[in-house]
Amino acid sequence: MPIVVNGRAVPLPNDPRVSLLDLLRETLHLSGTKVGCNQGACGACTVLVEGERIVSCLALAVQYDGRSVTTIEGLAQGGALHPLQQAFIDHDGFQCGYCTPGQICSAVGMAAEIEAGIPSHVSDDLAQDGFVLTRDELRERMSGNLCRCGAHNGIVDAILEIYGETAR
Ligand code: FES
Ligand code: FES
Repeated sequence: MPIVVNGRAVPLPNDPRVSLLDLLRETLHLSGTKVGCNQGACGACTVLVEGERIVSCLALAVQYDGRSVTTIEGLAQGGALHPLQQAFIDHDGFQCGYCTPGQICSAVGMAAEIEAGIPSHVSDDLAQDGFVLTRDELRERMSGNLCRCGAHNGIVDAILEIYGETAR
């Protein structure tokens, strides 16, 4: 079976050692997904697999046989930016931009986790009915995505604008 990337079916690599990150960048030329540490520590390579965020540098492409992957290029629909992409622009949520695609994909996945009622390490009551994205929750839930520039305040403001009231 193929892997589906941004709605397009693409064949799996013949070499089972190819990472999902390398398939995206080297074979499909979707260079929005960035290579940072290449060992799961920085989040620059974050993509969504059926809405769930993963670091693609630690994933083998063949693991995702028949699954649907969304990269930063697939978040914009019909020429319109995803609301979080627009919020990053409005809040100056980037400087060099290298961490930005991973930050945005990760935040979209994080919002889905909150919608699903998944607690974080800083949630007061693990059994509560819903979670609100406070600054503390955001810091914890986005701690896997590093920014080496000084864009953290803008990143936080952008994410809070779109998902700050998210609750169930
Ligand atoms: S490049 Fe994948 S986590 Fe850093
Ligand atoms: S904007 Fe440069 S690493 Fe985040």
